[in-house]
Amino acid sequence: MKNSREDFIFPVKVPYSTAPDIVKLKDEFNLTSISDEVLTFKLEELNKFHDDLTNEITSDELLCSLKIISEKYNLPDAKTIEDLAKCVQDDLAILSFGKVIAICFCAPSGFIPSKVVGKSFFEIHHPIPDSELLLKMSDKLSSMLSDISRGSYRRHIWTITANPSMSQHPSMKDKFHPKSISDLYFRTETQTTVPLGDNVHMLFSVKVEMTPLKDIWMDSVKKNTILESIDTMSEAMLEYKNLRIIKSILKQEL
Ligand code: HEM
Repeated sequence: MKNSREDFIFPVKVPYSTAPDIVKLKDEFNLTSISDEVLTFKLEELNKFHDDLTNEITSDELLCSLKIISEKYNLPDAKTIEDLAKCVQDDLAILSFGKVIAICFCAPSGFIPSKVVGKSFFEIHHPIPDSELLLKMSDKLSSMLSDISRGSYRRHIWTITANPSMSQHPSMKDKFHPKSISDLYFRTETQTTVPLGDNVHMLFSVKVEMTPLKDIWMDSVKKNTILESIDTMSEAMLEYKNLRIIKSILKQEL
């Protein structure tokens, strides 16, 4: 069973919260060279949605950040964030003074990555329901996450979706009509921040994992944790995460 793997990520908490749950990374972070499978996935997504998935504010500071990242992780020289993202498993963004200056996310959750370029941490997170604390801490978080003396931080997010693809591009939002647990997937993101050395710029890496929910449902502790967490989400959060119908499916299977 996939979720018995030692590295299976299960970040579900009760109650569900949007509080900034970042944890300092103890080990050195590494960008992993891209596999053939992920390269094929990224090229297919870029072919379909190129201008939605990648965007950047071309500038010397971006070129300099790309150079720092390529050298740090022993990757080929890249002149754009798209070139860099095609070399690694991760989806990537670069922030400067807490604003996104470049992004290439081939597996976004329900948002259009190119639209966050130029936006601040506060502006990006503003539409999220129940996120008062996160918004209040935006400026503090932005400077903390690019502070070289503090190092890298990690957080995980999770959701349940009827779309089996790692990409939850908004155009696919209403294309699926789940009826039972077998039609659902547990989606996690491992998000890592890496300061780039000048206390201004930082790298944001995201890795996505998809697991059929039926595999997790066999584990009653995990199943109950998911049910309890969803039960604590506000109506606004259920709507935002597209979980209303999914919640009723999970309940009907009890
Ligand atoms: C590391 C500190 C961060 C924290 C604590 C944080 C927190 C959150 C939370 C609580 C949510 C909504 C609920 C969820 O899905 O979990 C969210 C969503 C989001 N975050 Fe962050 N975030 C962080 C970093 C970033 C960065 C650096 C970016 C820049 C690209 C970003 C972009 C987004 C976007 C675009 C969404 C909306 C996703 C969607 O609607 O599907 N976040 N974040």
